[in-house]
Amino acid sequence: MKKAKLIGPFTQLLPMTGLSLKGAIADSELSVLEDSGILVEDRKIRSIGKFDILRNLHPKAEIFLLKGHNVGIPGFIDAHTHICFGGSRANDYAMRNAGKSYLEIAKAGGGIWDTVTQTRQATQEELVDGILERARWHLENGTTTIEVKSGYGLSLSEEIKMLRAIKEANLRSAADLVSTCLAAHILPKDFRGTAEAYLKAMGDQLFPILTKENLAHRIDAFIEESAFSSEQISPYLQKAKAMGFSITVHADQFTTGGSEVAVQFGAISADHLEVSGEEEIRLLAQSDTIATALPGATLGLGCSFAPARRILDAGGVLVIASDHNPGSAPMGNLLVQATLIGVFEKLSNAEVLAGITFRAAAALGLSDRGQLAEGFLADFLVFPTGHYNEILYHQGSLGPSRVWKKGELVCDKNK
Ligand code: NIG
Ligand code: FE
Repeated sequence: MKKAKLIGPFTQLLPMTGLSLKGAIADSELSVLEDSGILVEDRKIRSIGKFDILRNLHPKAEIFLLKGHNVGIPGFIDAHTHICFGGSRANDYAMRNAGKSYLEIAKAGGGIWDTVTQTRQATQEELVDGILERARWHLENGTTTIEVKSGYGLSLSEEIKMLRAIKEANLRSAADLVSTCLAAHILPKDFRGTAEAYLKAMGDQLFPILTKENLAHRIDAFIEESAFSSEQISPYLQKAKAMGFSITVHADQFTTGGSEVAVQFGAISADHLEVSGEEEIRLLAQSDTIATALPGATLGLGCSFAPARRILDAGGVLVIASDHNPGSAPMGNLLVQATLIGVFEKLSNAEVLAGITFRAAAALGLSDRGQLAEGFLADFLVFPTGHYNEILYHQGSLGPSRVWKKGELVCDKNK
């Protein structure tokens, strides 16, 4: 067993504990520990408390002394990304800003299919390198757990290639990568058959391989006019559910319908929600399905934000994720995006931070992270400031100076 480590003192420590999973959170509900330390042992947090008391109680612990003002907070969790891809869609971006719509560009040969073509041209090893590079960048910006979807392969062998690349990257990345199969992203242009036949083939052939090779425990589907209808996707999700996969849905991005399917199938999350209205908000809030807003897609496409304020006020669970992908959300910076949806949707700092920590952990079904408490993974960030309000105030321009992942210092900007 490795020697225990004591890190501190933190001017303020935000453990993000004792907060409700659902509904609005006032900033006054945040517990803020002053002059505290984190005692780490075997990748986990052994104890949190006043730094001086912990130092006296554990005289043999190795001390990592923080100088000046520092705020400690759980490592961020990005519950929705597509960081496994080949190529670039800078041309789509330019065309959109010059007046073409996302759907017009897709019909003209750009869009998701363009990235499928470019991803198919990449070798598995090239995809691994791309994921590792992006995951490292996310880690340096404070994200210690990253969900990564397939969905740019769209054939049996190409989806397997993507998911193997994600699995391999996870073994080599300091950040944890959680894979999700998005074979139901769009109907691939080269599939000879109907959407129903494509989904059936994927369910019959791909799902057993996912289990056998331990490639993914989560199945995602894009429910949209330009992708799959509620009717087309239902048998696919039914099969996924029967085989024990956890379900998540790209829902209500341009047209409604997806969130209803998500709730009907007991999905762990419904993501996007830019066009969700009263009915969709009510359905989500009354269910156990987590509502995940993707402000990166709002900023990438120049459309509206998901109705995050109304979701919280209705009693829903709001998670904020980056949707980092080459098409609709090329920026990727979760902290910038979380702070901006907070500004436009009038979210308390507590709600924004909850959406990228413990609530995001729940969206991935992970109960071992997202909070700083005994027994949780020692994933935490240090921001070089004396007050936690400064973190969101700087709108992403103040990044973490240090990042600990499973008790190891994996990024240190002080060096
Ligand atoms: O989450 N909406 C569908 N899928 C992705 C976009 C992927 C792309 O444009 O390449 C999204 O925004
Ligand atoms: Fe997405």
